[in-house]
Amino acid sequence: MAVPGSSARFLEKAQTLESDQFFLDLEDSVAPLAKPGARPGVVEALNQGSWGNRIRVVRINDVSTEWAYRDVVTVVEGAGANLDCIMLPKVQSAAQVAWLDLLLTQIEKAVGLAVGRIGIEAQIEDAQGLANVYAIAAASRRLETIIFGPADFMASINMRSLVVGDQPPGYEADAYHHVLMSILVAARANGLQAIDGPYGRVKDDEGYRRAAQRSAALGFDGKWVLHPNQLPIANEVYAPTQADYDEAELIIEAYDFHTSEAGGRMGAVMLGDTMIDEAARKMALVVVAQGRAAGMTRTTKFERPEGAVRA
Ligand code: GLV
Ligand code: MG
Repeated sequence: MAVPGSSARFLEKAQTLESDQFFLDLEDSVAPLAKPGARPGVVEALNQGSWGNRIRVVRINDVSTEWAYRDVVTVVEGAGANLDCIMLPKVQSAAQVAWLDLLLTQIEKAVGLAVGRIGIEAQIEDAQGLANVYAIAAASRRLETIIFGPADFMASINMRSLVVGDQPPGYEADAYHHVLMSILVAARANGLQAIDGPYGRVKDDEGYRRAAQRSAALGFDGKWVLHPNQLPIANEVYAPTQADYDEAELIIEAYDFHTSEAGGRMGAVMLGDTMIDEAARKMALVVVAQGRAAGMTRTTKFERPEGAVRA
């Protein structure tokens, strides 16, 4: 859930929503003249707010601005113990991530926080960032997440559309496929999460759903929500369907059984009309983990084949 760091009303509302993470924004949702004044509000919201076990993140201004270093210093000195990650927008190079990593280490040492606990989320938002995404994703042990920023990215490449995160009219294929896949591969190659960015038409639920389904199908872990209406859609789209979750649990159980002594030590077997093997099990483990994380429960049970010996 994205929350403008300068708005007390939004800060309060965000504490009532069931998102996995929220971020308090000091960047593009805060006007330049309001930026210095927004920092104390963010510190207070982190220290006083009831954020439950959601991941607590602050988006600072990008490294090319005069605000970036003081954003980090004020927020981490004032509320570092109540902060999980800093989001760094418009990342263009590995060196920019390294800058944030070093600055965080200096502040953590100065104020007595555990060194290295605060993570980094990097936003890929322009052509240069995308061109360097593999180096960026490997730039720091603090990195937890790579995020796609469609609005800035669309502007950066002159994409012909004014709707943030939607397909540009006139192009029949998915205009974001290369971008999303590059971010996803860079993230996974480094054991990081991949998160899709905002969809601008906050009252267009179907538009949000379409955009979310594309990145969810590729394997993204989630997507920003700009409005509470988008939250249930995201929670639904990024969780597996009940049928997929049930099937994945069955695959794990069936594979465990068939590879066992009692099941005949088989490496590849049929489950219904599908062949399952070690790779199929790995795919199923992903879906099982997502389903369990979403609190899903099974509606089917694995039946041992007739005549199987009990182990
Ligand atoms: C988000 O920061 C975006 O630019 O889409
Ligand atoms: Mg942006």
